[in-house]
Amino acid sequence: MTTGKHRKLIAGMKISVDGKMEGPEGSADWVQAWSDDYGMMQQVDACLLGAGMYPGYERYWTAIQNEPDKPVWITGAPPTPEELEYARFVAQTPHYVLSSTLTSALWPRTSFVRGLEEIAALKQQPGKDIYLVGGARTTASLIDAGLVDELRLIVYPLIAGEGKALFETTERRRGLELRKVQQLQGGRVSLIYGLG
Ligand SMILES: NC(=O)c1ccc[n+]([C@@H]2O[C@H](COP(=O)([O-])OP(=O)(O)OC[C@H]3O[C@@H](n4cnc5c(N)ncnc54)[C@H](OP(=O)(O)O)[C@@H]3O)[C@@H](O)[C@H]2O)c1
Repeated sequence: MTTGKHRKLIAGMKISVDGKMEGPEGSADWVQAWSDDYGMMQQVDACLLGAGMYPGYERYWTAIQNEPDKPVWITGAPPTPEELEYARFVAQTPHYVLSSTLTSALWPRTSFVRGLEEIAALKQQPGKDIYLVGGARTTASLIDAGLVDELRLIVYPLIAGEGKALFETTERRRGLELRKVQQLQGGRVSLIYGLG
């Protein structure tokens, strides 16, 4: 893969103890806020997402940018101060969407990448690190391809049962290097793993 110094690709995901990133209705109703609880904003200057989640993500953060006092559709609550901060961050940060089908986006700073080689090339460009926002299939396939340098998980104190597992489509076994463990409010645990 890549050699020498490159921008790290850092995945951040919120999961249940049984590894689900969303329930059967297609959202994680146990997540109270879609804030950056991973410390990404200080470290990255670009975001990468899969085509599956991009349209909903764009809608969610656009709604918060336009009407910051209104309840938002996933959490059903008004945005938290941390969500407002993330809404400002996304407005000024380039977003790359991995897709063979999508061709247009609402945000002027969004562009499309058509394959894994383009992601490898992005990592070689000068800049800060890159935040891999999701979704599950994209994260699993980029880990399989050896493109993800760090995995930051926030584990919620819940066995979700039915739902979509983060690693459902993972094909390869991979050892992880535990870098940091931290207990967060509400019984959540932050885990940071290096992928070497
Ligand atoms: N719990 C969390 O922290 C969290 C975070 C983020 C997202 N999510 C959830 O994740 C869900 C979306 O995940 P998802 O797995 O359905 O979709 P996804 O990973 O966002 O997108 C998958 C799509 O990406 C495109 N793609 C192109 N090349 C690919 C490759 N090599 N590997 C994988 N995908 C490739 C394909 O679209 P084309 O057909 O256009 O090529 C594919 O259908 C959302 O429902 C969201 O709620 C949860």
